[in-house]
Parts: sequence; structure tokens; C-alpha cells
Amino acid sequence: MLRTRILGTGFVTGENLVKNEAIAGLMDTSDQWIRERSGVEQRYYVEKGTTTSDLGLGAARKALDDAGVRAEEVDYIVFATMTPDYFFPGCGGILQHKLGLGPIPALDIRQQCTGFIYGLRTVLLVGAEVHSGFMPWHHWDFVFGRGGEPPTEEEKAWITRFRDRTVLFGDAGGACVLRGAEGERGLLGFQLHSDGKDFQSLYVPACGFAQRPYVSESDLREGRHIPEMNGKHVFKQAVTRMPQVVREVCSRNGVEVRQLDLLIAHQANLRINEMVQRALELPDEKVFNNIQRYGNTTAATIPIALDEARKAGRVKDGNLVCFVGLGAGFHWGAALMRA
Ligand code: UT7
Repeated sequence: MLRTRILGTGFVTGENLVKNEAIAGLMDTSDQWIRERSGVEQRYYVEKGTTTSDLGLGAARKALDDAGVRAEEVDYIVFATMTPDYFFPGCGGILQHKLGLGPIPALDIRQQCTGFIYGLRTVLLVGAEVHSGFMPWHHWDFVFGRGGEPPTEEEKAWITRFRDRTVLFGDAGGACVLRGAEGERGLLGFQLHSDGKDFQSLYVPACGFAQRPYVSESDLREGRHIPEMNGKHVFKQAVTRMPQVVREVCSRNGVEVRQLDLLIAHQANLRINEMVQRALELPDEKVFNNIQRYGNTTAATIPIALDEARKAGRVKDGNLVCFVGLGAGFHWGAALMRA
């Protein structure tokens, strides 16, 4: 039987490591609040000018190298991102050019946090985000600890309006190389869902063609270009739908949840993942989390976690691995893989 196998993985982060303490200089928040409520201890932000396709390129090169596959062998690119370099065209074609490839097909997918799971086919699959552009501050030198003016009290109050979201996110890219191969190893099955009913519980109100013009000065003044989130609702969706879809993908493939060797979930909030783990009754050694070090990097979280887990020896040949994610849309899904 021909199955899709993950041959190699790799990731890169934004250039600048930013700890919670630096974020607390920008807004009314604290290292303790962020750790306790989300698990995040630090994140990376790009240097101005580094784009999502640059992070995708770095990750893709590492994944190709890890797979022992030359760039010219890639015959399809799927690029998952919600923070593309340009409104259009997408990052897939830009990555094709930056890799110096022939005119192979390249597409972008917009499933936000579930983008990576949606893209698992025989391809160079990249998930990358530069969330910095959403951040409601311009005090980058201050955040990066290079001097720079701290925000005024008025600016701090403005930034604090968005603190529930901004403290969570970081910039990074992850990639993997997929190829069909004979045998029992590879991707066994998927369970994918979308439901647009509650799309406004996590979305960007401005910068879309539902309004005219698609962006205005008042949008920027009121912060409508920054994602709006009903955190509690998203949290509730995540902790119910993620265990549900893991159970679905297991039962459809004739596997018991307790037979899983490793669960790699989207990294949005450590508390979410701990609740998913409890709901599925999985012991700690069967779960891999790294949100503490990178924050939520949306489409990049799963390939980064997979790369780290593989390189830490947590994914052994023959292991049964389950990926699961939920995010804006809502889109959610799970995939099963025999390593
Ligand atoms: O990638 C997928 C998409 N995203 C998610 O999955 C996120 C899902 N949601 C969450 O992770 C959580 O809802 C958050 C981490 C966003 C928030 O945690 P919470 O426990 O739901 O807190 P909350 O929104 O109920 O806020 C509790 C308090 C509020 O103060 P009051 O009203 O109790 O006085 C907030 O104003 O915490 C305050 N707060 C903060 N305080 C310090 C909110 N953000 C911050 C902050 N620092 N950054």
C-alpha cells in the first residue's frame, strides 16, 4: 500500500528572543500571568524586513536537508500561513522562487492554526508566520533590549487593550518533506472539520473586502487590523473538539487512543493541551509540548514540535503519532501517522 511518509522536518524562528519580562514593559501584564494562564515563557520576533516566506525558506531548507532530498526533487509546495508577505499573491509561489525551483505548482492554504494538518500530502509542506505585524506597538528596540524608548503611559494603555492576544504569539516557520512510499509506515488517516458559524470569535475585522475601502485610517486608529478574539469561547472549543477529533481519527482507523505513542497538539495554550491530555487519559510521556519556548506560532507549531520530538528521540520507528489542532475559522482536525 502506498502511504505518505514524513521524510524530514526542520524549523527556524524569528531572530529575536523576547522573554515575558520584556513584554511586561509594554503593557499592563506580568511574567506570572502569562505563564499561569498560557504556559508561554518566551517567544521570538523577526527583525524588521524578515517575512513569512523567509521563515518558510529557512525551515524548508532544513527539512530538505534532514530528508536528504534535493530542492529540485520537490514537485509540489503547500504553504500554510495566516500572515502572508503580501495580501496577494500567496507565499507558496514566493517560496518556489526563493528555493530556485522550476514552475512547480504551489498553493497557499488559510486554515490558520489547523493549516499544517490540512496540508499533509506528498509535498514540501511549510507552515510559517510573522505575527509581529499584528502587534500594536512600534517599540521594537525597547522589546529587544537594545535601548529604545519605552512606551508612554498612554501608549501602554493602548497596547494593554490587546494584551489577552498579543502575549501569546511568536514568529517562526516549520517544514516537512512528504513522499509516498510502499509499506505500513506513513500517514494512516485524517479527520478534518470546518464550521464558519462562529468565525467572529477569532478574526481580523478590517483589511478584508467585506468593507469599503478594505482598510481605512479609522480601522488603524481603532485597532481593527489586529485580531479580535473571544478567548474563553476559543478555549472551550479547543478543549472539547480536540479530544473529540482525536477519538474520531483513532476509531475510524481501528486504533484505541491508549495505543497512541505520542500526541502532538497545536501549541496555543499549555492549559488547553493539559486539558486535552487529561480528557484522553494520556500519560505525560505520550504528549509533547513546547509552547513555553516559542509561544503560539499558528501554522508552524506542529512541524516545530514534530521536529523537536523527532530530534529528542521521542518518535521511534513504528510509533503511532497523532497530530491535532484547532484554530480560527473554526477549522480543526487530527491526523494519525505510523512513524
Ligand atoms: O491558536 C488558536 C487560537 N487561540 C487560542 O486557542 C486561545 C484560547 N484562549 C486562551 O488561551 C485564553 O482564553 C487566554 C490565554 C487568551 C486568556 O485566559 P483566560 O483565563 O480565559 O483569561 P480571561 O480572558 O478570562 O481574563 C482573566 C483576567 C481579565 O481580568 P479581569 O476581567 O478578571 O479583571 C483580563 O483582563 O485576566 C486579564 N488579562 C490579563 N492580565 C494580565 C487578560 N490578558 C492579560 C494579560 N496580562 N496578558
